[in-house]
Amino acid sequence: MRILHRDDIAGGQPVRVLVNDQPVLIALIDDVPYAISDTCPHNGLSLAQGIVRDGCVTCPGHFWRFSLRDGSKQGGPAVSVPTYRCWIEDDWIAVDVPPAPAQRSMREILLEHARQPRT
Ligand code: FES
Repeated sequence: MRILHRDDIAGGQPVRVLVNDQPVLIALIDDVPYAISDTCPHNGLSLAQGIVRDGCVTCPGHFWRFSLRDGSKQGGPAVSVPTYRCWIEDDWIAVDVPPAPAQRSMREILLEHARQPRT
């Protein structure tokens, strides 16, 4: 899905877009686009507000760094953010983001829990 013109992302600052109702960060590294989830797994802040440097984005909240190539957190606990296939098509940046999983209601969660065998 084409989501952004290449000129809209010039300058090195990441861009936040919504794809399939999911926030996605798009950034260029050496003119190659990368897409990762735009939700920091630590406290939910937008990573697109952070700084991109050396192939990583730094979260503005508490400075966790995530690789734009594979979504892995740099240093510390093994945490990562989802990555998405991203490419350039006729000067447009395209990204492939699967539909968001269906949200379950509290009732559905409680019913599933109640049906589990007791040990
Ligand atoms: S919210 Fe991102 S590091 Fe804390």
